[in-house]
Amino acid sequence: MGYKNLGEFIARLEKERELLRIRDKVSALLEITEITDRMSKSPGGGKALFFENVEGSAFPVVTNAFGSHRRIELAFDATPDGLAGRLAGIIKQAPPRSMLEKIGMIPKALSWTKFFPKTTKRKAPPCQEVVLTGDEIDLAKLPILQCWPGDGGRFITLPVVFTKGLADGRRNVGMYRMQVYDKKTTGMHWHIHKDGSHQFLEYKKAGRRMEVAVAIGTDPAVTYAATAPLPRGVDEMMLAGFLRQAPVVMVKGVTVAIEVPAEAEFILEGYVDPEETRIEGPFGDHTGYYSAADLYPVFHLTAVTHRKTPVYSATVVGRPPMEDCYLAYTTERLFLPLLQTIMPEIKDYLLPWEGVFHSIAVVAIEKEYPGHAAKIASGLWGSGQMSFAKALVIVDDPSLLQDGRRLFAHILNTIDFSTDVTIAKGILDVLDHSADNPLWGAKIALDATARIAGEGERLAENLDYSPVPPESDTELLLRLQQKESGFTGLRILFPSCKRRLIATTIDKQRGQSSRPYLDLLARESRRGGIFVLYDAAIDLADDSLLLWKAFNNVDPARDIAIAETKITIDATRKNHADGHKRPWPDDIEMTPEIKRRVEKILQKTTTGF
Ligand SMILES: Cc1cc2nc3c(=O)[nH]c(=O)nc-3n(C[C@H](O)[C@H](O)[C@H](O)COP(=O)(O)O)c2cc1C
Repeated sequence: MGYKNLGEFIARLEKERELLRIRDKVSALLEITEITDRMSKSPGGGKALFFENVEGSAFPVVTNAFGSHRRIELAFDATPDGLAGRLAGIIKQAPPRSMLEKIGMIPKALSWTKFFPKTTKRKAPPCQEVVLTGDEIDLAKLPILQCWPGDGGRFITLPVVFTKGLADGRRNVGMYRMQVYDKKTTGMHWHIHKDGSHQFLEYKKAGRRMEVAVAIGTDPAVTYAATAPLPRGVDEMMLAGFLRQAPVVMVKGVTVAIEVPAEAEFILEGYVDPEETRIEGPFGDHTGYYSAADLYPVFHLTAVTHRKTPVYSATVVGRPPMEDCYLAYTTERLFLPLLQTIMPEIKDYLLPWEGVFHSIAVVAIEKEYPGHAAKIASGLWGSGQMSFAKALVIVDDPSLLQDGRRLFAHILNTIDFSTDVTIAKGILDVLDHSADNPLWGAKIALDATARIAGEGERLAENLDYSPVPPESDTELLLRLQQKESGFTGLRILFPSCKRRLIATTIDKQRGQSSRPYLDLLARESRRGGIFVLYDAAIDLADDSLLLWKAFNNVDPARDIAIAETKITIDATRKNHADGHKRPWPDDIEMTPEIKRRVEKILQKTTTGF
């Protein structure tokens, strides 16, 4: 049986030497982020952090609690693959017959485990040991983080947000960050594609206030479940019960008719007025960039309740790897059997961390008929939050997903640029900054499966078996620089593949387009390949950085050009001259001053760093 509450999970982490206590005084303004970021970026995700002494608050803070494979395993007493196996076992007990049945399987699969949430009528449950209403409410007393220097303020980063649909009365639970505006109000950042926003629109249409309750600091199954992309109408607390192998115990809020987890550390109760919006953000986001400020609903607090000695739970997101990568990995594994109920030909899939949830998925299929890869791409682009995927790569061999270098080599040796690349349109995560418009734009699918009868052969000339001897990095760079001095670096990756992958950097002045550089690059290379252009500041030796920039900075329709045996990809920062009219966000970086202060704090903390 899983943990009853966050406290039990923290105790287990400590017992397993997975938690580091920071006893020195730290500030929730940037310092906790800098320490957490260093920990997240240390090998394997480091340890969870427990900040005992936070300036200006009586409450301790825990971060990075999910931030390693080991801690995810401790959170659920199983690996994500183990959880997926358990779920698949239940689904297989009674195979669904029709599509409708398949979709209906999800709640069934979860409820069969008999771990429906339970309601307690207990007076003063743990989450309501202290009840604050009216003028007693003051969010300034909570150790809420300002994560990054360019953030619009302090943000609650790990909130479990409970709402109820107006039409069906069903519970929805989602994780949507909340910017603190003052003692009693915050933003409510549910993106338009999410179920929380859908319920909000129901209230808006009806012209009614929407009650909301937010739990901060819950047992790991409840926290994770809020992030899980369950279909609309499926109760995330059922998933939490399935994960912890015990029902979640819920209790009615003190000022709202919404149930909250009785064992939570903090509960914020209140409402959202559908007619009111306010600027939310900017915020240093999962993408490693600042997400733009925009108008979002406002959450008014009517009560804060908490345990007698609560722990405030937070996460810090930013350039991967961070804690959220391990949550995303859990979702990737757990949702495979669910995805397979709708597309059984999917053998496995991979969401690379550099793609930050929404940018890229690599999918291995059991191919049976012509156009099968295209069918999978269309299906995924219409399935729940997989619809956000900007790039899809379809292969046959699932072992390619285990080895990035083999996967790249396979793509470079297989793809016929003239026939295997599809550009389509669809929805994009609001965090995507590369598209011309927010929320929708271009997508790309690469079919790297073996051709079968009915599809025709890949054309040999398009695979470029050119006898021309390839040039070296320096030869090609020098030739380019003779024609254009803006080229600053070049690296040839996979030199022995039929096609090469060539990464170059340019000193692109603001207001200048990348196009002339890309054209020159394609013209000057003697052999075919994929040519990717980066900004001069990029370290071409850092493979993960190259992937992250390519996945996040590219709009497939605008930034990818195919000419016979050559594909050019523009992964630089875009501007008006490139045809990009929206502001381009900055990379997230900590200030040197905070880095210095944190150095000092960490010198006193002898273990763990
Ligand atoms: C740490 C973290 C923060 C998140 N913040 C947001 C957010 O601010 N807004 C949002 O719409 N989704 C956010 N998400 C993703 C959602 O929680 C996720 O898409 C979830 O499935 C939404 O639930 P829903 O479909 O029931 O609305 C976040 C995820 C994580 C792991």
